[in-house]
Amino acid sequence: MKQFSVAIDGPAGAGKSTVARKVADFFGFTYVDTGAMYRAIAWKALQDGVDINNEQAITALAESLHFELDPKGIRVNNLQLTDEIRTPQVSTLASTVATMVGVRQVLVKKQQEIAQIQSVVMDGRDIGTHVLPQANLKIFLTASIEERAMRRYKELLHKGLTADLKTLQEEIRHRDENDQNRVHAPLRQAEDAVLVDTTNRSLEQVVESIIQLCRHQM
Ligand code: C5P
Repeated sequence: MKQFSVAIDGPAGAGKSTVARKVADFFGFTYVDTGAMYRAIAWKALQDGVDINNEQAITALAESLHFELDPKGIRVNNLQLTDEIRTPQVSTLASTVATMVGVRQVLVKKQQEIAQIQSVVMDGRDIGTHVLPQANLKIFLTASIEERAMRRYKELLHKGLTADLKTLQEEIRHRDENDQNRVHAPLRQAEDAVLVDTTNRSLEQVVESIIQLCRHQM
């Protein structure tokens, strides 16, 4: 079989990364978390004191970074990044750098190069619409905002952290708005994507249905 690609897009907290990872594992494909790339740029800008609103400087920073896929997260310039790119601050800053056309051009090119040489399950916001418009299967994964906030809340409690459900809902709503209303590659369902609503469905059910959809395309 030649390279097979699955694009999974959707709003924050819909469960894309968990689902994408499981589908990738099932078929032995590479999982590509494109959100981690935007997050890594935001994190590095914070570390290096680069002005997050300076588009030219942030684009130059994006160009200078070397990304490597890593089962536990992402490696950037040989440094493994995991929890430090998942903080609320980095989440918000990632959605700011994601509005910059230069940053998107740099990352889209890197993401396309990855998918050219291997079969992938890639998740993000613009995979089906911009990064892999010829993907074998496109999924738009969503869930109600209440459910997405509740999942995030439970995840944080599970990690022994405290959280406020209303604040989490507000953060997610704000990020959705940013992602849907930006000028460059806004979050939207590709015309040929299959809509999968995960509200009230278990992880196993969702993964199984996507595996079946993949099989139909193979
Ligand atoms: O998916 P995740 O929540 O980790 O992504 C972090 C942020 O990166 C998103 O809120 C979005 O603004 C941006 N992003 C994007 N395009 C992608 C992946 C992520 O704009 N393909």
